[in-house]
Amino acid sequence: MRKKVSIVGAGNVGATAAHWIAAKELADVVLVDVVEGIPQGKALDLLEAMPIEKRDVQVTGANDYAATANSDIVVITAGIPRKPGMSRDDLLHTNFKIMSDVVQKVVAQSPECILIIVSNPLDAMAQTAYRQAGFNRERVIGMAGVLDSARFRTFIAEELNVSVENVTAFVLGGHGDTMVPLARYSTMAGIPIPELIAADRLEQLIQRTRDGGAEIVKHLKTGSAYYAPSAATVEMVEAILKDKKKILPCAAFLKGEYGIDGYFIGVPCKLGAGGLEKIIEIKLTAEEDAALKKSAAAVKELCAVIGV
Ligand code: NAI
Ligand code: 2OP
Repeated sequence: MRKKVSIVGAGNVGATAAHWIAAKELADVVLVDVVEGIPQGKALDLLEAMPIEKRDVQVTGANDYAATANSDIVVITAGIPRKPGMSRDDLLHTNFKIMSDVVQKVVAQSPECILIIVSNPLDAMAQTAYRQAGFNRERVIGMAGVLDSARFRTFIAEELNVSVENVTAFVLGGHGDTMVPLARYSTMAGIPIPELIAADRLEQLIQRTRDGGAEIVKHLKTGSAYYAPSAATVEMVEAILKDKKKILPCAAFLKGEYGIDGYFIGVPCKLGAGGLEKIIEIKLTAEEDAALKKSAAAVKELCAVIGV
């Protein structure tokens, strides 16, 4: 039997994630949204692309959650995105209400699923989902680090004029202005990036990574990025469905790792069939550790506002 992935929020990120999942023939997909007709129309349109793409998957759309029953993974992208001049944190109250409502409905239909949270502000929304779902931490994972690292990798590959395949990068911390791009653990064909790019130029690439979401919002004007965010989400979906044991930077609920307790923050994680199978603890310099703690403090502050 094919695996089943439901995506709540059939907007830009959700529908594009459905597209990547179907194109990779990873699972049957159910798109859910509050707006009538949108998930049904997008799902049918995508389904009709399958004969051309030679992929055998079901794609359905719905406004109620019965269609999501017994999903293996549920991706939550429901909410409002950023507009120019808005920070991710400006979305807090609206998306908190949406996330709380959606998670209850999802869990009622798929009590065994793994949740991947995408809605912003990411770390606080992952915390909301974790509290509402009552799942263990292995089954609630936030998407941000894969996206932020992909942006950093893009800029490094461009700078060095090499294949993106040669570049690895790690961005940890919260998905916000305090994110922590770790240049020391970023490489070109195994060579640490600080040995290849001058410190002042590297700092510019790091800043561009931190501003990566805002750079796209400024271009689009009516919303935020979705191609890279949905591809990042689907890399996590694939790692879980195929039990790849893949190390990816994800937002995970920490229980003392990195000296942080009781909050979601981006750290290197091993993803497999069990969801979050392991948190990898890497040695940080005093400066990197302070940056991660600062980022965690920002997440804690947001969580306090919504009481999660
Ligand atoms: P969008 O506006 O295109 O789509 C959001 C969808 O959610 C809409 O179709 C809307 O009708 C739906 N929705 C709203 N309330 C709902 C509810 N109660 N139940 C079901 N559906 C509901 O926005 P987009 O661009 O897809 O972004 C979605 C979210 O993901 C935003 O919060 C955005 O900030 C966040 N995001 C997070 C990223 C990350 O790295 N974690 C990256 C990109 C976006
Ligand atoms: C991004 O980083 C808006 O969080 C979203 O593009």
